[in-house]
Amino acid sequence: MTPSGSGTRVRHLLLGVALGAAAALVAFGWTRVRERHAISRTARQERSALSSHAITGEPARAAPLDIRSLAGDPRRESILRGHALLTATSDSLPRYAGNALRCTSCHLDDGVRPHAMPFVGVAARFPQYRSRSGKVDQLEDRVNDCFERSLAGRRLPLADPAMRDIVAYMQWLSRDAAPGGKVRGQGLDSLPLPPTSPHAGRGSAVFAARCASCHGGDGQGTPVAPPLWGPRSYTIGAGMARVRAAAAFIHANMPRGAERTLTAQQAFDVAAYVNSRPRPDFARKADDWPKGNPPPDVAYPTRGTSPPPAP
Ligand code: HEC
Ligand code: HEC
Repeated sequence: MTPSGSGTRVRHLLLGVALGAAAALVAFGWTRVRERHAISRTARQERSALSSHAITGEPARAAPLDIRSLAGDPRRESILRGHALLTATSDSLPRYAGNALRCTSCHLDDGVRPHAMPFVGVAARFPQYRSRSGKVDQLEDRVNDCFERSLAGRRLPLADPAMRDIVAYMQWLSRDAAPGGKVRGQGLDSLPLPPTSPHAGRGSAVFAARCASCHGGDGQGTPVAPPLWGPRSYTIGAGMARVRAAAAFIHANMPRGAERTLTAQQAFDVAAYVNSRPRPDFARKADDWPKGNPPPDVAYPTRGTSPPPAP
């Protein structure tokens, strides 16, 4: 980061205060802005960032990010690079990341936060049959799904060192996983359906009151938080574009710092609002769920049909 670049960021943050953001929020945002530049840090700074993370991390973490356990591990440099790629994705891989998100915009806290699709155990959960692709996917296929859909980008070649580093970090986070890779807080919560159908109009009021301060009144992101819709956001083919998935994520993880303060109804309403806004298309979406039966919250028609029931 250049001195003038950091000066601009400080000015942005001060503007945020002037606009009424709480002091705690600014401190939080500052940490996040610094984290976006993880890739440009030296390995030494990276190590201390990771170990201080381990010390200050909330007890609910599924696995401690204790970098000291990497001493003497021959994969150490690869694991550290993988971590940096997931936390500074577009800075590090501009050819493959197509929007303003990084992997850890959603896989929160470096991919270890429970109920935010943690990567802990994920290496033991693949290969896995997935109904969206209708085939058995490798971990690398799943990583590339998020590159194309969540980051509106391109598939990383399997032989690219960046793919190996990403997988090395996920394997390291999965080192103590039980067979099958099942961990507490895996994937997303199953948030029960709310009393009344999700309503985007009501959701827009929740957005203005609870989300706009960080994500911007126009949802296009601020220096403190990434965009929720528009050309720099996730595509319509992303898991987050499904209302149930977004509601579960939002209920457990947002507003950042005041998690689980929305009712299930508010989470569904704001998810419906966010996902009703324009966002990048995903060209191959009609080929999803090739064997039929897409989940009910998939917002586009698919071609696949399920075989007729046996007579
Ligand atoms: C816009 C939010 C978002 C972003 C950004 C994102 N993902 Fe995901 N990711 C998801 C969701 C949602 C799921 C699926 C959760 C579910 O199974 O219901 C998922 C699932 C995954 C899984 C499988 C997890 C498991 O437990 O089976 C992997 C691996 C993954 N993502 C990797 C990545 C990588 C690598 C990046 C960056 C290139 C990335 N993701 C960026 C939202 C995101
Ligand atoms: C205090 C600031 C703050 C507030 C308020 C907040 N968020 Fe976030 N949100 C964040 C940050 C920061 C991230 C990205 C985390 C990271 O990069 O480590 C994020 C990520 C997200 C993501 C995944 C990434 C993306 O941009 O698509 C969604 C979806 C989301 N927030 C929705 C919401 C919704 C809906 C609300 C209101 C109910 C909300 N947030 C309120 C700070 C906030």
